[in-house]
Amino acid sequence: MRILGIESSCDETAVALYDGDVDSGHGKLLAERIASQIAIHARFGGVVPEVASREHLKVLPMLVKEVLQDAQSAWQDVDAIAVTAGPGLMGALLVGTSYARAAGLVNKIPVFPIHHMEGHLLAAGLSHELPEFPFITLLVSGGHTMLVRVDAVGDYSIIGQTLDDAAGECFDKSARVLDLPYPGGPEISRCAVGGNAKRFKLPRPMLQHDHLHFSFSGLKTAVMYAIRDVGEVTPKIRQDMAACMEAAVGDVLVKKSLRACQQQGVPRLLMAGGVAANRYVRDLLEKEAHQQGVSVTLPNHDYCTDNAAMIAFAAFKRFQYDLMTDQAWDAQPRWSLTDLKSD
Ligand code: KG4
Ligand code: ZN
Repeated sequence: MRILGIESSCDETAVALYDGDVDSGHGKLLAERIASQIAIHARFGGVVPEVASREHLKVLPMLVKEVLQDAQSAWQDVDAIAVTAGPGLMGALLVGTSYARAAGLVNKIPVFPIHHMEGHLLAAGLSHELPEFPFITLLVSGGHTMLVRVDAVGDYSIIGQTLDDAAGECFDKSARVLDLPYPGGPEISRCAVGGNAKRFKLPRPMLQHDHLHFSFSGLKTAVMYAIRDVGEVTPKIRQDMAACMEAAVGDVLVKKSLRACQQQGVPRLLMAGGVAANRYVRDLLEKEAHQQGVSVTLPNHDYCTDNAAMIAFAAFKRFQYDLMTDQAWDAQPRWSLTDLKSD
């Protein structure tokens, strides 16, 4: 079946066409397009919701046209439309979901809501075999940081989450202190190369506690105070602080994830979401997991951050496990992964 995926929950407008066979579980991505709004929001230092919605509205129809063209397909070849229905910015979600509903109505194609974080969680399946169930997922994006026990597609239990800022948000806010542009994660990652990761003493919040929760707001504050104490942000200070930041965030994420595997007796770990694009964290996770006999699955770099291939693929997985229903639905800016469990 051919599934057209649409993603517009934040600052990327994305469309993808995935072709999968639900009986064998195999499939492939036929075409995709991503229009990033980063350059538009960068001058504001973060995403401006109203601006994001207007941009989605402007580019979405064109992206759909291009994806269908690239895949040498027409609307009549599309069997289902899968659209991100939440969580995310309400206005941005409404653009994607309204477009999807209208296209579905006109072309007589069923439209299904997809949970953005389920898209991230399953994205590794676009390029790798997903681990055998159950497995633990470290989901780290700009808005979420959580540890999820995955017992099946759609059966997610949150076993740890951040009590304040998300890891991506901590990167973004710390980057601002270092005069680096938005989004801060990739900038810090680039800047950290060759930096002295021992120069500044940054805390490893919550690491001493046995529980699986996170807290990153203190780390951001520690970066702020350390920079205030040194005065001027020279290129060398920026580089060293970026390396220290990455080391602190990486340490907490990796150790907590491996603790989750140990506590749950599940030696399979998957990492997903925008922060999973971070080279340092990926390498650290692979190294430490290997030492503890835990297998690690990572999405390809390009499928860590927001994209529509993961939305079409999540829909494909839900079809494969017979989880798609024709229940009424609405865009939901706040939506927990645990709500996806069908009892
Ligand atoms: O998953 P995502 O694209 O969007 C959300 O659903 O939030 O994640 C975006 C977040 C941003 O905070 C961004 O700074 C962070 O992921 N990020 C990174 C890297 N690439 C993106 N953080 C660290 N290192 C990276 N290479
Ligand atoms: Zn995302």
